[in-house]
Amino acid sequence: MNKNKFGKQGWTPERLGDLSGKTYLITGANAGAGFEASKILLSKGAEVVMLNRNEKKSNTAIDILKEQFGASTKVSFIKMDLAALSSVRNAAAEVETSIPKIDALICNAAVAQVAEQKFTSDGFESQLGINHYGHFLLINLLFASIEKSGGRIVVVGSEGYKMGLKTIQFEDMNFDKNYHANNTYCHSKLAQIMFAYELQNRIKEANKSVGVYVCHPGASKTSLINKDASLMTRITWSILSISPMVQTAEQGAYPEIMCATEDNLKQQAYYGPTGRMNWVGPVGECELESFVLDREIATKLWTVSENQTGRKFEV
Ligand SMILES: NC(=O)c1ccc[n+]([C@@H]2O[C@H](COP(=O)([O-])OP(=O)(O)OC[C@H]3O[C@@H](n4cnc5c(N)ncnc54)[C@H](OP(=O)(O)O)[C@@H]3O)[C@@H](O)[C@H]2O)c1
Repeated sequence: MNKNKFGKQGWTPERLGDLSGKTYLITGANAGAGFEASKILLSKGAEVVMLNRNEKKSNTAIDILKEQFGASTKVSFIKMDLAALSSVRNAAAEVETSIPKIDALICNAAVAQVAEQKFTSDGFESQLGINHYGHFLLINLLFASIEKSGGRIVVVGSEGYKMGLKTIQFEDMNFDKNYHANNTYCHSKLAQIMFAYELQNRIKEANKSVGVYVCHPGASKTSLINKDASLMTRITWSILSISPMVQTAEQGAYPEIMCATEDNLKQQAYYGPTGRMNWVGPVGECELESFVLDREIATKLWTVSENQTGRKFEV
């Protein structure tokens, strides 16, 4: 892989300057990498608006952050459940009326390794519905505001993109015939990043300048593998989590903060830890497999996503 442009240690928050006056929207910011990203951005004076599904957890997270950074710290939350398109629409409307400027929308929330096939309230398989369709609609609804703000979009992917089917299963998007916790998760993360690269293409073709960046957190010790995962997956993950194969949740936040703040990043690139198996190590540019950039599939996915979310997405 390329030499790391940030030096041997890779990108770290030490590169951040003062972020006063900047506003970052983060989905799923009450826990894991999203919470750690909030912490780091707040520590530099930014405003963070969390788009979370759980009010109680959000208030607890805000209390912790205000305790750490002071009562006047600019951190708030808007309720948004990515498993319900109506909730995404309501949250986007609230953002439009209450947040004057979006420097970056960080699409971080996800569910993973869901053992049994489950559905969102709109009838989508839960991992695709939450991770991809929910964020697709959110980005669509906020795109004009992000553009007006001169802001950017960050899509948090996963190394899983290349561990599943490596294509989009258009004939059975809900995995009714072959549901598999990992393959179905990987499919949702592939859908997210294929959409992100297609969005870059369309922005370029429209001569617009919204930046879209794709990253992954490597393997980070967060609450991602929870009660929805099988017992075996939870046991395996808890053993891995105490090994050097897995890094901290804070380190897992670095790629998304880098993508939200750093100048001169490449589009059509994929950022994350570059060490062992890309699970840990210095944050930089990782290799991206070419099947992700297949525009025929990405175009079809775009149309399917518009139809499923009930809204055209004109860039
Ligand atoms: N950790 C890893 O090793 C790893 C590896 C590869 C990729 N990733 C990616 O990294 C990102 C961050 O995950 P994480 O590891 O930090 O996991 P995490 O600790 O479980 O955090 C995920 C966040 O997403 C939220 N969320 C889940 N479903 C939601 C919904 N329907 N609507 C709104 N928010 C929802 C969660 O809210 P609740 O607290 O209410 O559940 C939580 O705040 C994800 O995109 C994940 O796919 C993580």
